[in-house]
Amino acid sequence: MKKVYPFDKNLFFKINKLHKSYRFIIENYNKPFYLYSTEVIKFQYRNLRISFPGKVKFYYAQKSNPSKHILKTLSKMNAGCDTASLGEIKNALIADFKASEIMFSGPGKNKKELIFAIKNNVSLINVESFQELEEINGICIKENKIQKILLRINPHFDSNEKNKIIGGKGVSKFGVDIKEIPRIIKFINETKNIKLSGFHIFNSSQILNNKNIINNSKNVIELIKNICEKYFLNISIIDLGGGFGIPYSSEEKELDLKIISTGIKKIINDKKYKNFLKNIKLIFEPGRYISGMSGIYVTKVLYTKKSYNKNILITEGGINHLLRPALINQKHPIINLTALIEKRTKTESYKIAGPLCTALDEFDENCTLQESKPGDFLAILNAGAYGYTESMLQFLSHPLPEQKYLN
Ligand code: LLP
Repeated sequence: MKKVYPFDKNLFFKINKLHKSYRFIIENYNKPFYLYSTEVIKFQYRNLRISFPGKVKFYYAQKSNPSKHILKTLSKMNAGCDTASLGEIKNALIADFKASEIMFSGPGKNKKELIFAIKNNVSLINVESFQELEEINGICIKENKIQKILLRINPHFDSNEKNKIIGGKGVSKFGVDIKEIPRIIKFINETKNIKLSGFHIFNSSQILNNKNIINNSKNVIELIKNICEKYFLNISIIDLGGGFGIPYSSEEKELDLKIISTGIKKIINDKKYKNFLKNIKLIFEPGRYISGMSGIYVTKVLYTKKSYNKNILITEGGINHLLRPALINQKHPIINLTALIEKRTKTESYKIAGPLCTALDEFDENCTLQESKPGDFLAILNAGAYGYTESMLQFLSHPLPEQKYLN
């Protein structure tokens, strides 16, 4: 049998010292809820900021968690914001991100969204297709604007992504293939309304290997340098994408930002790239790394049962509230808060499944917990990124989970 997850090593509990009072988490439970800690957000963002040189700027990928407290926390810390819809741009503006600190990405931006972004002076639009570029140009001509863009490229390499999140190299709806670049550059050169500020490559998410992030960044810089030399381009920005992973299981190791930043500094100072990169700002747009460990999802055990000798816990909320285990087959660490409070010691292996009428509705098919009973409260950890908003909240018309905040 596996071991019980060592929750006290999890950042959420380390920072909030809740292990002394997990009772606090489950007081006043009336339905399943998410609990977020803005202290974790601050800690993670600060870690990024102090580890990397000033030349590197971080744009928080809002899609990982668009909660307004999180956005406010990050805008106060002078982060940028990566948005991917009209709603996200509005959220960012409401949270006091300046338009000059917002960029707009995504392969399917509609006209209304583009008009809003351009009229509101969103600093960068990451263009993902030739037709989108034509659409932006048309709007800019009409509005008499000049729009700065980054061209997103679908490269021939990736960072060895494990789950199908961004999809890695090959056929992709993201960005444009290298062979499209000449006609795009020609188009940009012929219009006065588009300024090519640089390039964007984001090809893999949930990367936990420090070296893969460094090598991928090097590959991106090398490719962009070649493109700039070939087409005589003078750019000011290279966006290296998101992808910084977090450990979901106790066997996975956290990224070491020192190693990554040393690797990035080495590339910046490499005489092959030094001159090229002199006036170029590097951007990362992490989502999960900043918000992932900031949230837990708490649900109650309704029933315990056995099927063919397997222990099963049926919980009040399921993948309607937290879809990732079913969506990309990602297991999250799970702990039994009530059992911890009561200091139960005997452990069992459980299948943990929700109330929905589908076999997909399962958080874990083999999770070791202290002996669990109806009425116990479970916490599913590392649920701060791609949790609430990535789930299928309306399925079976259950109530939505609450979202609560610490700090
Ligand atoms: N930038 C862009 C343009 C993105 O599309 C994403 C994530 C990010 C940045 C942030 O990536 P991160 O740093 O979080 O790796 N279904 C998946 C998540 C999909 C992420 C999509 N894009 C999951 O549940 O893990």
